[in-house]
Amino acid sequence: MATTSATTMAYLALMAVLITGAAAQTPATAYTNHTVGGSAGWFFNSTTNATSSNFTAWASSQTFSLGDYLIFNTNTNQTVIQTYNETTYRSCSISDSSDNDTFEYAGGGNIFGVALTMAVPLTIEGPNYYFSDAEDGVQCQNGQAFEILVQHGLGLPPSLNQPPPPPYVEPPSPEEGSLSPPVAVAADPPSTDGPKGGANLNWLAIVLTIGWLLLLEK
Ligand SMILES: *[C@@H]1O[C@H](CO)[C@@H](O)[C@H](O)[C@H]1NC(C)=O
Ligand SMILES: *[C@@H]1O[C@H](CO)[C@@H](O)[C@H](O)[C@H]1NC(C)=O
Ligand SMILES: *[C@@H]1O[C@H](CO)[C@@H](O)[C@H](O)[C@H]1NC(C)=O
Ligand SMILES: *[C@@H]1O[C@H](CO)[C@@H](O)[C@H](O)[C@H]1NC(C)=O
Ligand SMILES: *[C@@H]1O[C@H](CO)[C@@H](O)[C@H](O)[C@H]1NC(C)=O
Ligand SMILES: *[C@@H]1O[C@H](CO)[C@@H](O)[C@H](O)[C@H]1NC(C)=O
Ligand SMILES: *[C@@H]1O[C@H](CO)[C@@H](O)[C@H](O)[C@H]1NC(C)=O
Repeated sequence: MATTSATTMAYLALMAVLITGAAAQTPATAYTNHTVGGSAGWFFNSTTNATSSNFTAWASSQTFSLGDYLIFNTNTNQTVIQTYNETTYRSCSISDSSDNDTFEYAGGGNIFGVALTMAVPLTIEGPNYYFSDAEDGVQCQNGQAFEILVQHGLGLPPSLNQPPPPPYVEPPSPEEGSLSPPVAVAADPPSTDGPKGGANLNWLAIVLTIGWLLLLEK
């Protein structure tokens, strides 16, 4: 009995580890739009130096994958800088940055407080950094910044990773007027926020079954 009990305990412990692992590694099954800062958006109050949200905490609550978008609900008082260069991110400034690793999605312009929504696609796997360089870096220095780790997920959708199709060239034809027009290929649109995963369940069922068979053998 003692042996059976120990085996059962070991089996249950193993299952707990596997189930936790399966949940943590649940693969993406759809592209997601992540609203930065949640409903509080991407705002900085220059009177109090307060950010509308703790963007680091917000980012750690999300899983980011290629083909997802970050949606910045903001206004012209903040900027949206995307960079792959950690030095640029830490400096809170784009003045020494290069065009090939740093992109400005929303620049303040001359008019303050005009509402803006920016959609930033995630197209490079690995660390991505975001900040506002407005007010000479004061916003960024006070937390208007965050970093994320972009996972492979489903990979880039055709709409983000393929160059436009080559121009249509009419094939030679002896008959005039019988040519069909070029057909536009529709890209897969990202689907709504939704539960991710489910693909691991079959795998989990197999492991559970094998585990029980081993247990019954004892
Ligand atoms: C900034 O914070 C101050 C103090 O809480 C508040 O009075 C002001 O309305 C805020 N400004 C904006 C633009 O939200
Ligand atoms: C924001 O959240 C992070 C992680 O949750 C925490 O370490 C940090 O202290 C928070 N920052 C502020 C200003 O509350
Ligand atoms: C990152 O940017 C800094 C300037 O902000 C530049 O000096 C450095 O060369 C860049 N690093 C890479 C790997 O391009
Ligand atoms: C940007 O260009 C510099 C050289 O101009 C190069 O060293 C660096 O690797 C490039 N970065 C990216 C992300 O392509
Ligand atoms: C935008 O910035 C200007 C100048 O600092 C300030 O007067 C205004 O209250 C800000 N508006 C909002 C909506 O944050
Ligand atoms: C905001 O932070 C900057 C430094 O980033 C500081 O110089 C300034 O005094 C702060 N302003 C307020 C109102 O706390
Ligand atoms: C996600 O954002 C992109 C870019 O704005 C948009 O084309 C797409 O329709 C959005 N998807 C959803 C599900 O809202």
